[in-house]
This record gives sequence, structure tokens and C-alpha cells, in this order.
Amino acid sequence: MSAPKRTYKIAAIPADGVGKEVVAAGRRVLDALAEHSNGKFAFAWDEFDWGSEYYARTGRMMAEDGLETLKNYDAIYFGAVGWPTVPDHITLWGLRLNITQNFDQWANVRPVHFHPGVVSPLRKADDTHLDWVVVRENSEGEYAGLGGRNLSARGPGNEVALQTALFTEKGCERIIRFAFDLARTRRVKKVSSVTKSNAQQYGMVLWDETFARVAQDYPDVTTESVLVDAMSAKFVLKPEDLSVVVASNLNADILSDLGSALAGSLGLAASANYNPERRFPSMFEPVHGSAPDIAGQGVANPIGTILSGALMLEHFGLTDEAARLQKAVDATTASGVLTRDIGGTATTDEVVAAVVANLQL
Ligand SMILES: NC(=O)c1ccc[n+]([C@@H]2O[C@H](COP(=O)([O-])OP(=O)(O)OC[C@H]3O[C@@H](n4cnc5c(N)ncnc54)[C@H](O)[C@@H]3O)[C@@H](O)[C@H]2O)c1
Repeated sequence: MSAPKRTYKIAAIPADGVGKEVVAAGRRVLDALAEHSNGKFAFAWDEFDWGSEYYARTGRMMAEDGLETLKNYDAIYFGAVGWPTVPDHITLWGLRLNITQNFDQWANVRPVHFHPGVVSPLRKADDTHLDWVVVRENSEGEYAGLGGRNLSARGPGNEVALQTALFTEKGCERIIRFAFDLARTRRVKKVSSVTKSNAQQYGMVLWDETFARVAQDYPDVTTESVLVDAMSAKFVLKPEDLSVVVASNLNADILSDLGSALAGSLGLAASANYNPERRFPSMFEPVHGSAPDIAGQGVANPIGTILSGALMLEHFGLTDEAARLQKAVDATTASGVLTRDIGGTATTDEVVAAVVANLQL
């Protein structure tokens, strides 16, 4: 067989808990897809053992020159980080946020996809077309890491902590434009902007004003500005009104978990952390965490990770292949091959086998 026309170099970082199981599952599906591509493309994987066990051995969440190493890859395929033996802020900042922040992966895209055969807690999901995408500002906002703790000056029981959110006009504008550009590619051309600008009168008012200004450049796109409390109600009561939802780091993080729960499970939700300028590799990962409660049992739902692979294919311009993967996943859920979290009894391996078989359809 001749060499594939294009080989994509992917850095796999399974990290902790179910991250290891779902990344292995996703790799098997992506390799099967590449095998069926008639030599169009292949993946060359390097796997890195960074995460909480690496931290226990070395005192670091990733190699000291890890970012330098990762720069040379076409993309990063990530599992989940966090384990009960290490404080969550150390694991998250030491690995995942270290990569997203330093590689300026400022656009985090999290589609909310309803799968055939998966029961949604929303009754209207049975007879209403629901499909929206959360666009999360991924470089500043509430996760800018600014603040400090005054451990001693006020004496025992009087500690003070300050956590500052950072909003820059450039940061707001680039993610809002990204959301509008994405809306233009969708069936329903609408952007809902989410803030809490009634209570947070500086950063979030800057966001609202930037949204109103940018919207003028997209007269073909419908808009609305909604407070985050009202938007969480809307996710449940009027989700058919949504197409692209753009929000700050924290608000979009919470709303996208709500969205994936409404679609049936956190285990279904895919995400992409894009550096849209392509100066650095982008990173593709499920929305869920390391799920210590089910880790090692072979029952983790691999669909969020598999569909993050579909987002990676789209990023490489392989849109037909991404659609094929999405179809294979939908055929799998429709046929009742479901993990425990979505009401079935299938193992991770059984879902992978079914998705691979359905790639032929
Ligand atoms: N991106 C990330 O790496 C990321 C995101 C969220 C949480 N975390 C970390 O993960 C750890 C656990 O956090 P948590 O419990 O709040 O969130 P979690 O997403 O790990 O788990 C929440 C619930 O969803 C279930 N779940 C998650 N993924 C699943 C899957 N693929 N299949 C079936 N069920 C699944 C879990 O069993 C659990 O009941 C913490 O250390 C946290 O910091 C990491």
C-alpha cells in the first residue's frame, strides 16, 4: 500500500481516570476511519503520560519542556485531568489550563447534540429539533487566574481571598466575532450573548457593549443579550430558540454542562479549544472530567471523546469524514448500544466496536 497523502501528528494526553479509557477509545475509532480513507490520511500518535500520577512522581503536571514539545504537533487529543489525591486547582492549572492559556486557545466550542435513542430529560426533545453550540471565551474572564490570598495579615479566621475576572475589549471582540462567523455557517443564524451585567457592572458591561457594536457588522444574524440566570432557564424551557450561545469562561463552562446533561449525559459532550490563528496546535477533548467514581471499570461513555475527534477532523478540513463519524455515532445510539450513563449496559469497548462497524454504513 502506498503512503498516506497526509499524516497528522497528534499528541495524545489521556491524563487521569476515565481520560485514559476514552482517549484509547477515540484513537481506535479515528485510526479505523483513517484506515478506510483509501490512503487519504493517517494519524501518527505520540502519547504523553502527564497528569496526576506524573505529578506524584515528579512534582510537575507535565514535563518542563512540555509546551515546547507540543508546539510541533498538528493537534492535541486530551482526556481529562484531576484525581482525588491532588487538589483540583493544581491539576487543572498545571496541565489543561497551562496548555489552553499558553497556546492562546481562546475559542472553546462545545456543541450540544441530541442523539437518536438517547432519552433526554427534556420532554420536548422527542418532537422538537434541538441543536445548539456553546462558544466559550477560553483565555480570560473569570479564569484569568488573577487575585491572591491574604493568609495571615488579619489573623486566624479572617483570611481574605480576591479572585479577579479580566475582560479586555480585544478578548471580548474576538470571541464574539468568532460566534457570529460560526452562526453564519449554521441553519439558524442567531447569536445569544450571555452575561451578568446587571450585577457585574464593569467587565460584563464592556462585553455587552462590544457585542452590540460587533452585531452591527452582521445584519444577517439575529441577536439577543440574555442574563445568565435567565439563560439557564431558557436552556430548559425554550432550547429550540438557541443556535450559537456565546459567553465568558465561567458562564459558558456551566451552561455547556447543563446543555450536555439535557442531551442525556456529560459523557456525550465534545469540545474543541481552538487557536483560530493556527499559531499553536488546537486541543480536542470531552467536556467531562476524570470521573473517579467509574474510572477503571471499562464503562465510561466514549462518545464525547469520539465526537471531539470529529471536531479535530473538521479542523483539518476533513468535513466529509467528520460527518461520517457523527453518523456512525448516531447509528450506534439509535441501535441501542448505550453505556450506563445513558440507560444502557454496553461497555466502552462495545460502543467503540459498534461505532467502528457503523463507519461502513
Ligand atoms: N477538562 C477536564 O479535564 C475536567 C473537567 C471537569 C472536571 N475535571 C476534574 O475531574 C474530576 C472529577 O470532577 P467531577 O466529578 O466534578 O466531574 P466529572 O465530569 O468527572 O463527573 C461528573 C459525573 O459525570 C459522570 N461522567 C463523567 N464523564 C463520564 C463518561 N465519559 N461516561 C459516563 N459518565 C461520566 C461521572 O461518573 C460523574 O458522576 C475533578 O478532579 C475535576 O477537577 C476535569
